[in-house]
This record gives sequence, structure tokens and C-alpha cells, in this order.
Amino acid sequence: MMSKEDIVIVSAVRTPFSRFDSAMSEVPSIDLAVMVMKEVISRVGIRPEEVNEINYGSCIPAEYALEFDIPARQATLLAGFPDECISLTMDRACCSSLAALRMGVRAIQTGDAEIAMAVGSENMPRTPHLVPGLRQGKRLGHIKLVDCLFELGYTAKGFTPVAVDAGEVALKYGVTREMQDTWALGSQERYAKAFAEGKFKIGEELMSVVIPQKKGNSIVIDKDESPRKTNTEALSKLKPIYGSPTVTAGNAPPMSAGASAILFMTRGKAEQKGLKPLATIIVTVCSATSPRDIATIPAMTIRKALEKARLKIDDMALIEINEAFAAMPLVSTKILANENKKKWKDLQDKTNVNGGAIAIGHPVGASAARITMTLAYELRRRGGGYGIAAICGGLAQGEAIIIKV
Ligand SMILES: CC(C)(COP(=O)(O)OP(=O)(O)OC[C@H]1O[C@@H](n2cnc3c(N)ncnc32)[C@H](O)[C@@H]1OP(=O)(O)O)[C@@H](O)C(=O)NCCC(=O)NCCS
Repeated sequence: MMSKEDIVIVSAVRTPFSRFDSAMSEVPSIDLAVMVMKEVISRVGIRPEEVNEINYGSCIPAEYALEFDIPARQATLLAGFPDECISLTMDRACCSSLAALRMGVRAIQTGDAEIAMAVGSENMPRTPHLVPGLRQGKRLGHIKLVDCLFELGYTAKGFTPVAVDAGEVALKYGVTREMQDTWALGSQERYAKAFAEGKFKIGEELMSVVIPQKKGNSIVIDKDESPRKTNTEALSKLKPIYGSPTVTAGNAPPMSAGASAILFMTRGKAEQKGLKPLATIIVTVCSATSPRDIATIPAMTIRKALEKARLKIDDMALIEINEAFAAMPLVSTKILANENKKKWKDLQDKTNVNGGAIAIGHPVGASAARITMTLAYELRRRGGGYGIAAICGGLAQGEAIIIKV
């Protein structure tokens, strides 16, 4: 039953997601955020002063540290929101932009905000190398450069690279390297088909990024840059990364730059503004488990969301599970299918129907909002229904959202 208290998404937009060597790698993540924050309100005619709360996910602090700190506050002011607008920078790893949405939902539910925005922004290729200890000087010995992008796995504090945990746990669930490569190929093929059908054209989830140049014309980026043609043989030849038994450059997402923003309010407020909801938010939940089990956390979080909404996985017309690696959707759909072979296949068929992060790219802080909007736009194309989006984040955190169109 629809209610005026329901919280609805009225606008959702993202930049294209870049390649590692893209012109976008020069654009600070704060500036990418400013672009989507302006666009997400202007598309629906909401004025900056009408937005009460902006939560902003970003999880490679070394990159935004080039502009110092509080990227949420900086972007809020740079994008023309009033000085009084509340903002918060959040780091829940790849879950961050859905955590940002969950915080906004709670703010509306408690009456602290009427209109809220969730933002996610990251520029992984722009991450600088660090020189620890230089401030104190180096009397003797070599100066060490640290690459905090390398291995993406919290190894400095004794944790294992995510690719190792994901690969090993996948094998424990009977999800082989071959299956992961097949999923990766499917991700590229599904994206290519969806792209050819115009599903990733500017105006829906995508906006163009215009990068002025010192000389000559600006560079305009109007499509995701990472999708590539591949085949089973090429994928099978790639060597595993970071000591993982199964994860390769082919069945992992590339490191990208990109930003996403989602604007939401109560249905009553949307009606008052004459706005047509893109989707109704049914529930948002978060979870965490043992770091090693990161490939299973999307399934656990989906179960928690379904329980909270009193719905079943079969009620979901579509599923999005972020392809942190191919292992995640495969392991998680297998768990959700209770290891039933036919059910597992059925769930795979409705998961990431337009491809996922392996093809699109994965600017970590922006991806959770990306899968949410990809789900909403596709449900709308298909005439509606329930959909669920889930994402895993560093050291096995999870975030999920059920929406209805
Ligand atoms: C996997 C990773 C290390 C690759 O980085 P990279 O070496 O800069 O990536 P490249 O695109 O150059 O790919 C490496 C090689 O694989 C090849 N390759 C990549 N994808 C391929 C595909 N789908 N089919 C065939 N070959 C492919 C490239 O052509 C390249 O080959 P080359 O060395 O002969 O030129 C990096 O993207 C990464 O760490 N990704 C994971 C990010 C991550 O962990 N995110 C968070 C998850 S929680």
C-alpha cells in the first residue's frame, strides 16, 4: 500500500566510470561529486536550498587528501548548496554510497530532513603514492614510497588482500576459476547488449563529464570507458592477481574514477513538488561478518533485507550484486539458492542483467549508488516490480536496498 510517508527516489545520476588511464583521472573526486550533485537536483527542478542533508561516501582518503579533508562539505559548498546544508563524509568502503543513502532515509524518517541526497565519489587512478615519515626527516636510509591502491586489502594491518579471501572462499563454495571467467564474459556481453539497446545513453543514469583543456577543445566523456570485448580463451590465460587462486584482471573490475548521486524525499513531498518517483525505497539494511567471508556478505545482507521487508527472493524481479569480483555474485546467488542448481541458475539470470562492475568499472565509493540506480532504471523499463541491490565492502561489510517501481 502506498503512503505519503514512503520515501521515494526522485532523481538519480552518475558520471561515466573511467579507465585507469582516462582524462578523468586528472579530475579530483570532489569535482566529480560537484557535477552529479548539481545535475541530480537540476534534472527535477529542486533548488539547492531545498536539500537538507547530504551524505557522501568516499573511501580512498589518500586521493581526496590532495584537497585536504571533508570532501562532503567542500563539494556541498562548491556545488552551490547553502552554508546551512548539513553534510557528512562517510567511509564504509564500497558500501559507502548506500550507507549514505541509509543515513538520509533515517534522517527523513525521524523528521530531521525533508529532502536528502546520497553521493558517492572516487578517483582511484588519481591516488598519490605516500611517503611515510618524511615530515620527521630521514637521517639515513632509503625513503619508502607506499602505494595505498596496491592489493586493496588492508595488508598493512595484517589483513589478507580481498582478492585472496574472495578467491579462496569461492573455491570453498565450489565456484571455480572457470565459472568466474564465464561470469566475467557474461558481464561484458550483457553490458554490450544493454549499451547497444541505448540503456546507457546520456539522460538516464548517465551524464557527460566535460574536462576543459589548457589548449584546444574540452574532452567530453559520455560513456563508460572500461567495457571490452573478450572471450573465454583470453580470460583463461590471465594470471591471478595479488596471490588469489582465481581472481584475475579479467574477472575483477578495473580501478575507476566516477561519481553518483541519488535524491530522495517522502512521497508526500514529491507529490507537493509535482515529481514522479523513480522508485520507492522499501528497506535499507547493513551488516558485517568475518573479513574472510566477504564473498558471502551480499547474500547475508540480502537475507536480512528480505526478512525486514517480509519478502522472498522470488518476489524480486531483478537483483544487483556488485561485481567486486565475479566471485561475489556467484557465491552469493548460490547461497541464496540454498545450493539448488536450478534455483542458482534462475537467480544468476536475473542478477546484473545489464552487466556489472567488471564491465562498467568500480570507483569504489560511487558503486553502491550506481547499482541502486541501474536497478531502478531497469525495473522502470520492464514495467516495474521489486528489486534488490547489494554490495560488499572492505573487511566484509554489507549494504542492501529493496526498491519498488
Ligand atoms: C586487476 C588489476 C590489478 C588490473 O590492473 P591493470 O594491470 O592496470 O589492468 P589492465 O587493464 O592493464 O589489465 C592487465 C592485463 O590483463 C588484460 N585483460 C584485462 N581484462 C581482460 C579481459 N577481460 N580479457 C582479456 N584480457 C584482459 C589486459 O589486456 C592486460 O594485458 P597486458 O598486460 O598484456 O596489457 C586492477 O584493475 C585491480 O586491482 N582491480 C581490482 C580492484 C579491486 O580490488 N576493487 C575492489 C574490489 S573490493
